[in-house]
Amino acid sequence: MSLQTLEQSLIDGIQAAADETELESMRVSALGKKGALSERMKTLADMTPDERKVAGAELNALKEKLTQAIAAKKAGLQAKSLEARLATEKVDVTLPARPETQGSIHPVSQVWEEIVQIWGDLGFSVAEGPHIENDFYNFTALNMPAEHPARQEHDTFYFHPKGDGTRMLLRTHTSPVQIRTMLEQKPPIRIIAPGRTFRSDSDQTHTPMFHQIEGLVIDEETHLGHLKWALAEFCKAFFEIDDVKMRFRASHFPFTEPSMEVDINCSWEGGQVKIGQGTSWLEILGSGMVHPNVIKAGGLDPDRYQGFAFGMGLDRIAMLKYGIPDLRAFFEADLRWLRHYGFRALHIPTLAGGLSS
Ligand code: PHE
Repeated sequence: MSLQTLEQSLIDGIQAAADETELESMRVSALGKKGALSERMKTLADMTPDERKVAGAELNALKEKLTQAIAAKKAGLQAKSLEARLATEKVDVTLPARPETQGSIHPVSQVWEEIVQIWGDLGFSVAEGPHIENDFYNFTALNMPAEHPARQEHDTFYFHPKGDGTRMLLRTHTSPVQIRTMLEQKPPIRIIAPGRTFRSDSDQTHTPMFHQIEGLVIDEETHLGHLKWALAEFCKAFFEIDDVKMRFRASHFPFTEPSMEVDINCSWEGGQVKIGQGTSWLEILGSGMVHPNVIKAGGLDPDRYQGFAFGMGLDRIAMLKYGIPDLRAFFEADLRWLRHYGFRALHIPTLAGGLSS
């Protein structure tokens, strides 16, 4: 076979390859160790030096040609298969989320998010503190010195005493975040602190772990009117009704003076609680003007700074808003309960888009 015929047949073979596998076997049979070209190379040994010079150059040129032809064919095949994939593997990004999506958002997470949205809109940022606290932040700095009787109301979970006799504890409320924030930030301060809290207590309306939201405002001119207005704004937004009747009842907390508990108006028709109507009242939070001793413990001058604070039970207002009867079910991880009371995973509460819709 002349070299030209061989070249033609190899080039034809390369061109005819239908896919990359066929092309690869063509490459092996042309340029491989036992391929056509290698066979030809062997014949060089029997030639005279002059013949070999000419034939060797021809064979090298052919090798170069074939290598290029294979590379070009390979690129062509790859482009073609990419095009074919792009044509068949289409994703329609306008399709709705698959209806069989599993999982839902727990009412606590939902309400947590709703509350952050509402206070965020009022200019509050979110602050955090540890679950494991020491005595100073949870009690002493909040105007509850060692023998203060209010400590007993807290049913505190204590850890074993440390070497120096002090005991760490699980925070009984989110109020320690007030102190941590005052020590870290300069006024004006406007924060909320949602989080877990712990008390040794368990029945239909109490669980050993529950959630609270603390609120704190500190600056030079804040008064009780601001507190009432802010809480009223919150209730309207949270319960998604235009008019919420609220009752501010005198109360006592060591860390606020004066102190008030806030009730909202509701009805209990047919065993279902409805907010904003009827003749009943439900307590939803504790609040008051921050006690001067607390401001001092937060490292600030009480003659210059004052403000208000409040604390709400997050689980409790979730029960009220969404008509959930038993608190304990919140933490039992029962799938049937979660499917019933849970929220769609892709619904993110915003004031503009609607909190719970
Ligand atoms: N920490 C109080 C509680 O757990 C609630 C509260 C917070 C009251 C802030 C007043 C001000 O009951």
